[in-house]
Amino acid sequence: MSKNHTWPEDGRGRVPFWVYTDPQVYREEIDKIWYGPHWLYVGLECEIPNVGDFKTTTLGERPVIMVRSGVDEITVVENRCAHRGLKFCQERFGNRQDLLCPYHQWAYSLRGDLIGVPFRRGVKKQGGMPADFDPSANGLHRLRVEEANGVVWATFSDETPSFREYLGERFWKHYTRVYDGRKLEVLGYNRQRIPGNWKLMQENIKDPYHAGLLHVFFVTFGLFRADQKSAVDIDDLGRHGILISRKGEKEQNEVTADMRQFKSDLVLNDPRILDVVQEFTGEETVGMITIFPSVILQQQVNSLTTRQIVPSGPGAFDFHWTHWTYADDSSEMKQRRTRQANLFGPAGFVSADDGEVIEFSQQGFSPSEDEAALVTMGGREIECTDHMVTETAIRGMYDYWRKVMGYA
Ligand code: FES
Ligand SMILES: [Fe+2]
Repeated sequence: MSKNHTWPEDGRGRVPFWVYTDPQVYREEIDKIWYGPHWLYVGLECEIPNVGDFKTTTLGERPVIMVRSGVDEITVVENRCAHRGLKFCQERFGNRQDLLCPYHQWAYSLRGDLIGVPFRRGVKKQGGMPADFDPSANGLHRLRVEEANGVVWATFSDETPSFREYLGERFWKHYTRVYDGRKLEVLGYNRQRIPGNWKLMQENIKDPYHAGLLHVFFVTFGLFRADQKSAVDIDDLGRHGILISRKGEKEQNEVTADMRQFKSDLVLNDPRILDVVQEFTGEETVGMITIFPSVILQQQVNSLTTRQIVPSGPGAFDFHWTHWTYADDSSEMKQRRTRQANLFGPAGFVSADDGEVIEFSQQGFSPSEDEAALVTMGGREIECTDHMVTETAIRGMYDYWRKVMGYA
């Protein structure tokens, strides 16, 4: 533990700013959380349909390659040559018969086994690797992988339980409401760097309080409002959360009276973005799941997106958005989802607001490490609620964080 940080007295009601700013705390998070017993989002299975297809990404701070190593087999290896440590694969996507490092041409199978070392036995009886060199002990570092209904997850730890157990049965149910086994197809990507601590993104989606206030677009057009029937669910350890809501009407009432930015006269030139169809069972129109620590699974009306968090030091993270559709959707539905994707991403009508307030948060924390944020909206309990005027899911996440990090 660094700098003898202590947690504020009002345990669940406060989050100290040093959790967002201290480089030593950040390093410990990378080790204990990102490389610890947690499943991390890698990508969608449909991004690599053919044997040899690969996608590169980053888990925690480590570059990895997700590759289809067999018709029904996906391998995730660290993108780091066993010879001299190069991040040898620089492309974002591609197809290869084997994985080759350009420096000295060491070749690895699609499963990461070392299959070729040029001049291993020397040249003209000179040089070469020592006799005890064992290729089988010098493969790429392979991660544990699970595919769950089209999404690929990996973990660095042997201690991590199965993915389903990691979610818990309630969250498995939330997960399979959208990821129900139907084949997925990518519609497109967005990427952005947000200059704020990675946890702020998790908090943002565990914070229904802001959604009905900050987001003029949501409130004005009735996509997410505090007066709608809604709920917050948290897993038993407090780390995963879901915000559930039902779309309402565009109207003025006590909720909009508290929202200074409500614009009753706001109209859309092209209203097709609000052409929403009910497609999932139940009356919920929004299900925003945070899977700790690496991803947000978004279902906001007909827009379906995974949002991967890639931490980059205490004060920034990269945010990778993958907008997807079911492969067997009609072309009309695919177009509808693509249009609704304009709500999200770096310049989205809604999500641009979140990127900004996360940046503003970090600006407030950095010069005042010893101060603390207040998270007592809805009380001090960590509980599932049937309303959204609460910060309970944020309290849940820090309760778990403190246990893992040793600040309990
Ligand atoms: S560093 Fe990769 S082959 Fe030498
Ligand atoms: Fe938001």
